[in-house]
Amino acid sequence: MITTVEAVAELLAQAERVAVLTGAGVSAESGIPTFRDAMTGMWSRFDPAELASPEGFARQPAMVWNWYAERRAHVTKAKPNPAHLALAEIERRVDRFTLITQNVDGLHQAAGSGRVIELHGNIRRVKCSLDGQVKEEWAADGEVPPRCPDCGGHLRPDVVWFGELLPARAFQEAGAASVDCDLFLSIGTSNLVEPAASLPWTAHRHGATVIVVNPTDEGQRRGPGIQYLLGNSGEILAQLVSAAWRKTSEAAHP
Ligand code: OAD
Repeated sequence: MITTVEAVAELLAQAERVAVLTGAGVSAESGIPTFRDAMTGMWSRFDPAELASPEGFARQPAMVWNWYAERRAHVTKAKPNPAHLALAEIERRVDRFTLITQNVDGLHQAAGSGRVIELHGNIRRVKCSLDGQVKEEWAADGEVPPRCPDCGGHLRPDVVWFGELLPARAFQEAGAASVDCDLFLSIGTSNLVEPAASLPWTAHRHGATVIVVNPTDEGQRRGPGIQYLLGNSGEILAQLVSAAWRKTSEAAHP
């Protein structure tokens, strides 16, 4: 069922517990390619298993490291867009708000979101492929990939690869927020990759209203009660915030 900004703004203004799941579509308007979109999907040029997997890294560590270094350079130049900014505003307005992201670009934090559950890690961090220690900084002037200063293992991006488990605590917190919320917004994701793709359904099963924000409802898993708010997240979320809280402030100060 297709819904409207006005209807969702009403829900948002009244919601007490909101959970949001974001995907690559939220960062598309910051110039970061999505994974599966026909026009911008980066997977169309790469075989994910070759680059975003432990086997790919074991086979070609330097190539995988360089591919992520290229993406990291792109990400660090990217700026948060109105969707990221609107989500930071919603966090300030809703008492119990949980932002769950599949994105690894750190743009939610850059936009001012205080608490971000990163289900798939963060490309701006690396970790040692042997001892698992996460590092925010590393020497980038020598061997590629660089070596862990503590154990000599290859450093790798601190992101979840195909075939790897999600960070347990992050997924546990995301699941709890999906069970607890009364409004769940799934924004800019094809909602295909498990286990993140199950979160909207978990929320729906526990009585939440689930709204999918996406330019298209094609390819999205359908289900009774799932509503679609069609449009680009930058525009839609900015409209949602002004409609939801413009109503409240007008009511408070007629
Ligand atoms: P996808 O590329 O699969 O899907 C992007 C979604 O964003 C699509 O549904 C688009 O229609 C939508 N979209 C495009 N532009 C948009 C815009 N301006 N506003 C709102 N939506 C827009 O990306 P994800 O769903 O994020 O996992 O992919 C999920 C996971 O698959 C990624 O986290 C990654 C990948 O494998 C790992 O790397 C572990």
